[in-house]
Amino acid sequence: MDQAAGTTIVEAASEELQEQFRRDVLAGLSQQQKVLPARWFYDRRGSELFEEITTLPEYYLTRTETGILAERCPTIASLAGKARAVVEFGAGSVAKTPILLDCMDASSYVPVDISGPFLRDSCERLQHRYPHLPILPIEADFTRPVDLPDIVLEEEVLGFFPGSTIGNLQPADAVDLLRVMRGTLGNGSMLLIGMDLIKDRQRLIAAYDDASGVTAQFNVNVARRINRELGGTIPIDRLSHKAVWNDRLARIEMHLEAVCDLSFEVCGERFIMDSGETIHTENSHKYTARSANGLLLAGGWDPLACYSDKDAFFAVILASAITPGVTA
Ligand code: AVJ
Repeated sequence: MDQAAGTTIVEAASEELQEQFRRDVLAGLSQQQKVLPARWFYDRRGSELFEEITTLPEYYLTRTETGILAERCPTIASLAGKARAVVEFGAGSVAKTPILLDCMDASSYVPVDISGPFLRDSCERLQHRYPHLPILPIEADFTRPVDLPDIVLEEEVLGFFPGSTIGNLQPADAVDLLRVMRGTLGNGSMLLIGMDLIKDRQRLIAAYDDASGVTAQFNVNVARRINRELGGTIPIDRLSHKAVWNDRLARIEMHLEAVCDLSFEVCGERFIMDSGETIHTENSHKYTARSANGLLLAGGWDPLACYSDKDAFFAVILASAITPGVTA
């Protein structure tokens, strides 16, 4: 491809992203309860910090889900049928994707991610490991419908959405996302999705407020990003990390709490926070087996099998696309 044209497309995409970031931040900080969408955590540093979180003793999610997949992927592959195209939402997760691909004998692998650089990295890694597997990355926002390549649409598709990423969304938005995925993946498709389960609150809170303070760094990093990319003056050292369990809404919330009255600027706009006021930076919804099934059904997916670990900390659910008008 023409180098100049390629460069222009990448720059246009990141300019649009930057504009979205600006809009989200200014709108979020202008609300009564200040709020920032969780997706903006993941700049380079944020992605590194998240990788570090996944290795923390308190953060049971990643290792538990990886264990479930290692144990159950042979069964999952036989239920799904081996020769499917695997479409992963989010760029290939370092350890999890190979577990699935090793069992699936997939016809192709299609990672969909909003971050081009992240996509390229994970594709390179995977292509090395699977030299004969067609890898067809798509740089796109998967909360909107994605056009899959023609050769993928000729196959049956297995969607892969690990990590309990769905938990970042309010139930209404989670249902919308599941329906969009149902549309993207098409009739006859299946979905393999990871969802974190409700458990004792100490364990839940510890997973989001670890002793070594990595999650606190991850949380604060979004404010650093605002300062760097949007010319912000947020006083980082006057914000403290808070993780709370909201029982009514079954979710962990992360906040950045002002330790004193403070004011700052972002993009030339002035914002004030009273001591104790917070910026709500993330929701991480937790489910029961039944609430998970209810969410999937509302989103157009029929749960076929639910796999969990011995402590019932995490669930990996295999679901099949519901076809309108065809009742079970
Ligand atoms: C990547 C959204 C699944 O909610 O557990 C980790 C992000 N936030 N620690 C989660 C996260 C704080 C994570 N997800």
